[in-house]
Amino acid sequence: MRALDIIRTKRDGYPLSREAIDAFVSGVTDGTWPDYQVTALLMAIFLKGMSLDEATALTQAMVDSGTRLDLSDLLRPENGSMPVDKHSTGGVGDKTSLILAPLAAACGCLVPMMSGRGLGHTGGTLDKLDAIPGFRTDLSVAKLRKALAATGCVLIRQTAEVAPADRRMYALRDATGTVASIPLIAASILSKKVTEGIGGLVLDVKVGSGGFMENLDDARELSRWLVGIAERSGLRTQALLTRMDTPLGRRIGNATEVREAIHTLKGDGPKDLEDLSVTLAARMVVLAGLADEDGAEPRVRDALGSGRGLEKFRQVIAGQGGDPRVIDDPSLLAVADRESLVMSPRTGVITRIDAGRVGRAAVVLGAGRDRVDAVVDPGVGIDLLANEGDTVSRGEPLIRVFYRDSGRLEAALEHLRVAIEVGDTAPAPRPLVLETIDIRTAKV
Ligand code: URA
Repeated sequence: MRALDIIRTKRDGYPLSREAIDAFVSGVTDGTWPDYQVTALLMAIFLKGMSLDEATALTQAMVDSGTRLDLSDLLRPENGSMPVDKHSTGGVGDKTSLILAPLAAACGCLVPMMSGRGLGHTGGTLDKLDAIPGFRTDLSVAKLRKALAATGCVLIRQTAEVAPADRRMYALRDATGTVASIPLIAASILSKKVTEGIGGLVLDVKVGSGGFMENLDDARELSRWLVGIAERSGLRTQALLTRMDTPLGRRIGNATEVREAIHTLKGDGPKDLEDLSVTLAARMVVLAGLADEDGAEPRVRDALGSGRGLEKFRQVIAGQGGDPRVIDDPSLLAVADRESLVMSPRTGVITRIDAGRVGRAAVVLGAGRDRVDAVVDPGVGIDLLANEGDTVSRGEPLIRVFYRDSGRLEAALEHLRVAIEVGDTAPAPRPLVLETIDIRTAKV
């Protein structure tokens, strides 16, 4: 099929056939479609949309552009009926993967978790893992299978063979204003998850200023598409829409978030982070068929309370070449040598800590990247010393910043002073999980 005919079809608002979508993705992958034709079709999709069938075909073609793991031979009876994973659309302070993957594995799940780097104000799991001395995320297929067989859990990066069409398409979308298309976002996310060889997927779709979707309607729409496409691609899927208007936990930055994840696995973490990690891990346990709705959470809490989750994390770190001593001595993780405090401007109660602003402050400090090729500093970061709803006095320290460069510090402080609001009335408590969407409720 000619590229020009495919572009004209979508430009004029007609659906693309499976054959047309396959031809497009082949052309993206082997380079026979030049950038201007790829972006013309991406813009046509952005403007005219896609049906669920088209988006599912696109996802499948993107999966087929690379290799897909087959883990069926590693699945033992104690792992349940299928390997499972979780994907988050990204948030500020979101280190749940480091907690829930070991917890789910300690409950028996087989968890082949492939993650990406952070971009913009949301952090990335790979950047956090890179903060653990020696930890390797670039495992060959043979090594990841060996590590998975040994511990039940691997935390790795997407290799060049994973959905290569997505890499070129995402770069072109980024440069042409076509990222914010729900079918394209859903196909991009799921093409990478399907390659993991999983059968069940829990989605954490963040809603709020620190997330990819700022309001509930958009998050709901993305979740419905994600669930619809994932189920049609053979993954049992559940999406939890969770609050990301304020940072998750109290630490933002790479090494500092690993420290907080370790504290949480020791039972000593902030309640919001612990609760969300347990909730998501319990969903994975249910999808794997290892417990029913009522039995899953107690099982995960037992893995947490008994220290089995922590031991699993230690094994995962050692199995991937990292220094497992960080578990007992988190001071082995990097920390920038200069500190600054943000003080409360008045006496009152903290009414808001804005996740988007805190995330941008972290990027400015060097904890995240605003360009794909920016280098991240594991030791810089932000510790929140108070929570929303806390009563504070004028001059009391609210935020501690670890930094290296004073120019960057000043820019970060500008964001942080606006991020935290002190008023007269405590905000009403809000639930962390706002909604759950699965194939019965997705209405697709
Ligand atoms: N994350 C992805 O992996 N792809 C998108 O298109 C958007 C977010």
